[in-house]
Amino acid sequence: MTTLQFFHLILSFTILISFLDHHPSLADDTSDDDSYWLMRIKSEFIDPFGALNSWLQETSMCTWNGITCRDDKNHILSLNLSNSGLNGAISPHLSKLTFLETLDLSLNSLTGPIPPDIGNLQNLKELHLFSNSISGTVPPEIGLLRKLQVLRIGDNLLTGEVLPIIGNLSELRVLGLANCEFNGSIPKEIGNLKNLMFFNLQQNSFDGVIPQEIGGCTELLNFAASNNRIEGRIPASIALLASLQILNLANNSLSGVIPFELSHLSNLKYLNLQENKLGGEIPFQFNRLVQLETLDLSRNNLSGNISLLNTNLRNLEVLVLSENHFTTIPANICIRNSSLHQLFLADNDISGDFPVEILNCSSLHQLDLSGNNIGGALPPGLDSLKSLTDLLLNNNSFTGNLPPQIGNMSNLKTVFLFGNMITGQIPAEIGKLQQLTTLYLYDNQMSGSIPRELTNCSSLADLDFFGNHFSGSIPPTIGKLKNLINLLLRQNELSGTIPSSLGYCRKLQRLVLADNKLSGSIPPTFGFLSELFLITLYNNSLSGPIPESFHHLKNLSIVNFSHNRLSGSFAPLTASNSLTKLDLTNNSFSSNIPSALALSTSLIRLRLAHNFLTGSIPPQLSQLKQLQLLDLSFNNLTGQLHTDLSGLTNLQHMILSNNQLFGPIPTWLGSIAELGELDFSSNNFSGHIPAEIGNCSRLLKLSLRSNRLSGSMPPEIGNLNLLNVLNLQKNNISGTIPPTIQQCKKLYELRLSENNLSGSIPPEIGTLSELQVILDLSFNQLSGQIPSSIGNLMKLERLNLSFNQLEGEIPPSLGKLSSLHRLNLSSNHLRGLLPSTFAAFPLTSFVGNDELCGPPLVSCSESSKKWLSESQVAGIIVAIVFTSTLICLFLMYIMLRIWWNWRKVAVSCGGSDTKKEEEDWVCGEEIVKSSDHHFWNSNSMALVPSSQSKQLSDTTCIFQFKLRNNPMV
Ligand SMILES: *[C@@H]1O[C@H](CO)[C@@H](O)[C@H](O)[C@H]1NC(C)=O
Ligand SMILES: *[C@@H]1O[C@H](CO)[C@@H](O)[C@H](O)[C@H]1NC(C)=O
Ligand SMILES: *[C@@H]1O[C@H](CO)[C@@H](O)[C@H](O)[C@H]1NC(C)=O
Repeated sequence: MTTLQFFHLILSFTILISFLDHHPSLADDTSDDDSYWLMRIKSEFIDPFGALNSWLQETSMCTWNGITCRDDKNHILSLNLSNSGLNGAISPHLSKLTFLETLDLSLNSLTGPIPPDIGNLQNLKELHLFSNSISGTVPPEIGLLRKLQVLRIGDNLLTGEVLPIIGNLSELRVLGLANCEFNGSIPKEIGNLKNLMFFNLQQNSFDGVIPQEIGGCTELLNFAASNNRIEGRIPASIALLASLQILNLANNSLSGVIPFELSHLSNLKYLNLQENKLGGEIPFQFNRLVQLETLDLSRNNLSGNISLLNTNLRNLEVLVLSENHFTTIPANICIRNSSLHQLFLADNDISGDFPVEILNCSSLHQLDLSGNNIGGALPPGLDSLKSLTDLLLNNNSFTGNLPPQIGNMSNLKTVFLFGNMITGQIPAEIGKLQQLTTLYLYDNQMSGSIPRELTNCSSLADLDFFGNHFSGSIPPTIGKLKNLINLLLRQNELSGTIPSSLGYCRKLQRLVLADNKLSGSIPPTFGFLSELFLITLYNNSLSGPIPESFHHLKNLSIVNFSHNRLSGSFAPLTASNSLTKLDLTNNSFSSNIPSALALSTSLIRLRLAHNFLTGSIPPQLSQLKQLQLLDLSFNNLTGQLHTDLSGLTNLQHMILSNNQLFGPIPTWLGSIAELGELDFSSNNFSGHIPAEIGNCSRLLKLSLRSNRLSGSMPPEIGNLNLLNVLNLQKNNISGTIPPTIQQCKKLYELRLSENNLSGSIPPEIGTLSELQVILDLSFNQLSGQIPSSIGNLMKLERLNLSFNQLEGEIPPSLGKLSSLHRLNLSSNHLRGLLPSTFAAFPLTSFVGNDELCGPPLVSCSESSKKWLSESQVAGIIVAIVFTSTLICLFLMYIMLRIWWNWRKVAVSCGGSDTKKEEEDWVCGEEIVKSSDHHFWNSNSMALVPSSQSKQLSDTTCIFQFKLRNNPMV
């Protein structure tokens, strides 16, 4: 190397040094100056709130925010930037702060992994990284932090297993891993942590068993492992954790019995084993847990007696044993001075009378005995529970009256007595309960009038008396209940008018007065109920118009006024664009359908059937894009169906029967893809049945009965392969029955009678094996033989081929139709021997044919002589021509009667259709009652179909399934 070269090297080195003096960012990684590294760390955080603004080079780092220096002021001991709004990743340069003892970056929005370099912080005692969005796995280098006492990394997105190396952190006192995505099992090395006091691994996906070795953590105060997938038995070694105060293993899959050894945990205050698979009994040794304040063993398979004795468990405040199979409550569950505040025994197998022992639990605030089999009367001494706020006795078998002493329980807020067999009246004393917010008495046998005193309970928000026998009128003072939100009085025997003061309960959201005997008109004060969301008044005797003030009710969503005598126009109901369900069936509404209804664009169901509505269907209704059910049947509507109505693209049920609508059946019906029910019967529709109807592939029912349709049946009907019911009766349809009908494999009712159909019956009809209700082809011009395939319709109950031109013999296969109980083959040209099984049918089934014989007709040998010979015999015996003429007249009279009876049968078939329609109303019931209110579950308000309404409609409504599928409320 020349001198020059050496000189150059020295020079450049000097330049480099001087350069670095001014540009610390290029210094080498061995800098021993914490402030230098802190500046680098600062530059790597995103600091939107300026938490690091005080970190300035010109000031001493010991004055910076979040920093605590060592005495020598050159190094920092603690860095605390908790809750500073920091973003970005954790800088690996933190590992340069080697004197650091405390690092707290909790409660920020940090992302990325924990840098492995953190293992260099050999002096670190506390590491707080909880409540960030840190991801990845925990680096094994954590195991190098031998002085670590606190490791809190929970509430992050960390995954993976917890490594056994954790067991090397022998100084660890606090280990917080909760609310991450950790999995795998708890490493057995955890037992090496002799100093561990707090171990929290709740809300992860840990599985496997709790290691036996946990017993080594002898200093443990708090062990919380709830909400994981831990399985196996609870290890008895937990009993070695002599300091343990809190043990929470809720929501896992622990099985086996509860180890009695847990009773050695003499410091235990809180024990939660809720929602596991634990069986057996509660160990009686648990009575030794004298410090216990909270015990939750709910949602397991525990059974037997509850052996807990309050004589020992003097500190017990909360006892939750719900959803097990316990059978009895111990006689001494409470003694004087018990601390028990909450006793939850819901959904067990407790029977017998009300356990009066409980009345000794004088400090009780909440008592839940719901869902057991407790019977007998409610004890009058109930009022010794002076502090009680919540009394839940629902779903038991209580009988007898509600004791008046309930009025002394002045702290009561919630009273659930529903689902019992309580009788008698509501005691007037109830009016003393000023705190009462919720009173559920539904599904009982209570009677008498609702006491006016009830309206003194000024805190009342929820009243549900559904399904009792309350009579008399609604108290006129009801308007005093200014906090009332839900008033449900459905299915009682209330009479009189609706008090107009009800309109002053301005917080009312749900008003259910349906199924009573209320009369008079709807009070105009209802216009003040601006919060009202649901109102059902169906099945009463209300009359008069809907008050104009309903225009103010902008939150109305569900309205059911069906089956009353309301009249006038329903225009006042069209002001709420929240409206989803409107049912005014069976009233006396007249006037047109207001076109303003089209503004209620959320409407899903619209039922206006059985009124006196006139005019045409407003084309504006096409704006109701959500509409699924439209029922306008049994009104006086006229006019043609406007093309705009093709915009009702979500329609599933279109029921326009029994009006005076006319014009063609629109071809656009074929574009309403969801259509399941189309009923245009009893109108004046004319023209052909459009082939497009075959595009409605979801159609279950098609009825065009009693119109003026002509032309032939389009073969496209065969595309409707879900069709259950096809009724084209009473039209002028001609041509042949298309053989494609065989593709409608689900048909169980087929009526084509009273048309002009000709040709022969297609033998393919015999493949419709679901046909059950009826096959009716009567009163047509059908000719040829009866196809023997009809004998394959094994489910068929009614067959009517009368008044056609059918000829030939009856195929013997028909004799095998074992389900058949009505048959009419009369007035054809049939001949020959009847199948022997037909002997059970009346004569009228076969009259008016050419040459049929065999029982019930004459035997084939005497065939065609019998009628005549009888009159001849009569003639011979009496021998007076005048008399025989009289007899002939008498016979004609009989024939007329027979023919007349047939007419009647045909009419009554039509009648049964009407009945089915009536039953559809019932199916469409909007508001029915839940019988399983659960405590603390305020959302389950009264809006689930009840078993009663199911029974009403079960077997009768073919569209029930479809309707149920659309959640009704
Ligand atoms: C960090 O500071 C916050 C208050 O800013 C404090 O609540 C927290 O305890 C400190 N962390 C440590 C580990 O001392
Ligand atoms: C952890 O401790 C075990 C046993 O005490 C030891 O064998 C192992 O080397 C330690 N691991 C580390 C990384 O220090
Ligand atoms: C409705 O039509 C029927 C039958 O056409 C008629 O008897 C009745 O008077 C009409 N009612 C009204 C309100 O128009």
